[in-house]
Amino acid sequence: MPRGKFITLEGIDGAGKSTHLSWIPAFLEARGARVRLTREPGGTSLGEALRSLLLDKTQHLHADTEALLMFAARREHLDKVILPALNAGEWVVCDRFTDASFAYQSGGSGLAWERVAALESWVQGALQPDLTLYFDVPAAVGKARTQAVRESDRFEQEGHAFFENVRAAYLRRARESAGRMIVIDGSLKLDSVKNSVETIILNSCF
Ligand code: TYD
Repeated sequence: MPRGKFITLEGIDGAGKSTHLSWIPAFLEARGARVRLTREPGGTSLGEALRSLLLDKTQHLHADTEALLMFAARREHLDKVILPALNAGEWVVCDRFTDASFAYQSGGSGLAWERVAALESWVQGALQPDLTLYFDVPAAVGKARTQAVRESDRFEQEGHAFFENVRAAYLRRARESAGRMIVIDGSLKLDSVKNSVETIILNSCF
């Protein structure tokens, strides 16, 4: 049984990844893939419980605590969901993964980049997604979109500087992971972003 592909979506809050997650699984299934859609933090019962704590506005977490909980959730997710699915030939489509830890915990919350890199190699060894779609938008665009649709969670209530730092960290990560992580201009019209995403997926996964 050939191993499935591992595809992750990333971007600051409001960049558009949820919109594109709504059609990508059906697009892959129409081309013969069996798809497991999942998310981080989350994806397991422990992970979803940690997610509630991590996104709770009343929590004031140390940056180390935040990173350790993200990676604890990730370890369970890899062990219980992601690796078994990939080994069974399923394609895993994950709403955020470790690039978000570099972006939010290092770029946003100020944890040293090397700390996140150490947790990354501890928890996942050499495993990386086959393809990461990074939806890039300026912080002001992301903010305007999230404010329009819902009440903010603990991360979404952060200010402009936090999200510009998150974005800069994502772009650094994309430069360091060229080939795997594709930067998509998320400020363009929906149809044009969708066309780019379809082309990228077809070229890199089929
Ligand atoms: P998000 O994926 O935006 O979900 P929703 O669309 O339901 O709001 O929310 C998850 C939040 O968790 C997001 O603000 C980024 C944050 N996060 C991290 O800080 N580090 C991580 O490693 C991950 C996976 C997410």
